[in-house]
Amino acid sequence: MLLSPRPHIRHIHPSPHGGVDLSELCALGISPQNILDFSTNINPYGPPLSIRKAIENLDISAYPDTRSAEFRRFVASQWGVSEESVLAGNGSVELIRVTALTYFGPEDKVLVPKPTFGEYEVSCLIAGARVVEQKLEEEKGFRLDVEETISLARHHQVRGLFLCNPNNPTGQLLPSSDIEKVVKLLPDILIILDQAYSSFTSDLNRHPDLVQGGNVILLCSLTKDFALGGLRLGYVISHPEVIHHLDKVLPPWNVNVIAQRAGIAALQEEEYVNQCSARLKEAKEYLLSELTRLGLSPLPSETNYFLLDVGRAREFRRKLLSRKILVRDCTSFGLPQYIRIGVRTLPECQRLISAMEEVLTE
Ligand SMILES: Cc1ncc(COP(=O)(O)O)c(C=O)c1O
Repeated sequence: MLLSPRPHIRHIHPSPHGGVDLSELCALGISPQNILDFSTNINPYGPPLSIRKAIENLDISAYPDTRSAEFRRFVASQWGVSEESVLAGNGSVELIRVTALTYFGPEDKVLVPKPTFGEYEVSCLIAGARVVEQKLEEEKGFRLDVEETISLARHHQVRGLFLCNPNNPTGQLLPSSDIEKVVKLLPDILIILDQAYSSFTSDLNRHPDLVQGGNVILLCSLTKDFALGGLRLGYVISHPEVIHHLDKVLPPWNVNVIAQRAGIAALQEEEYVNQCSARLKEAKEYLLSELTRLGLSPLPSETNYFLLDVGRAREFRRKLLSRKILVRDCTSFGLPQYIRIGVRTLPECQRLISAMEEVLTE
């Protein structure tokens, strides 16, 4: 007999993501090695050499330090916070799940401005909580109206609020003053500030002082800027009391030996990320001007990806894929006319533009 899961789990659908889908490529007869992937927003220059060196010859037979002590020490000293304020995760997505499971439950409502990263909602639903949506208006360039956020949070008496900054998929960045305002005016709400793409913005304030009040969780990822998507590594910074509770829910040995060592090496490579980020900025400028020349209107964004209205995203994506180029169809974000383009190196962007020219004149 097939057993039923807990009733609320039955109705949850996994959130779609970018990246290569091997079964789709297999059906199209395309080898994954030949794909140029603009559908994820990962640093196309790959991890720095020092990371590859640091993970050579590691002993993988012993269990890792269960709470990544050395990595956390490095994070803490870089942020100027105590080690007790840091927790490492198997990618930041693990920490999103753990946060929802620790703090939200049936009876709770959580505010999520949308479109945004789909894992916030999925994690809340798994925890049994309800999601209240704040719609980001296309006519307003998908900018977050924080006055509305505050009034929705109060009206619905939500227990949590996810803020993605810069937001995925729109690339919009909230000014520090808006973030500070939300944190100050909603002291009883847990605010999760996801800064997964902050290395690719020009805003260097990552808000370490916000965690002192105990109602903020800063979420950081090393999988984008250091191109460690396959290895998985992220962390949170928060009040030690918050970390103490998250820690109880997190599985033991959650970050493997290789990821912990890679993380320590990565944190010493800030300059590498700055250099990559500067080169990506140039490639993005090239893309924006070429797309405009082709009669398209890329939306302004403050990070390494942006939205582009192409009419029918699913079809457009398929046409590019047949030319071995992958972009993110934003239908699952509720934006069926948009694709999201994650900026790659300049020569790769030139290939994208040639393929787009072909698709547009087909
Ligand atoms: C906004 C945002 N946060 C978090 C994540 C998860 O990143 P990680 O690889 O650290 O789990 C992603 C991945 O796409 C993302 O877009």
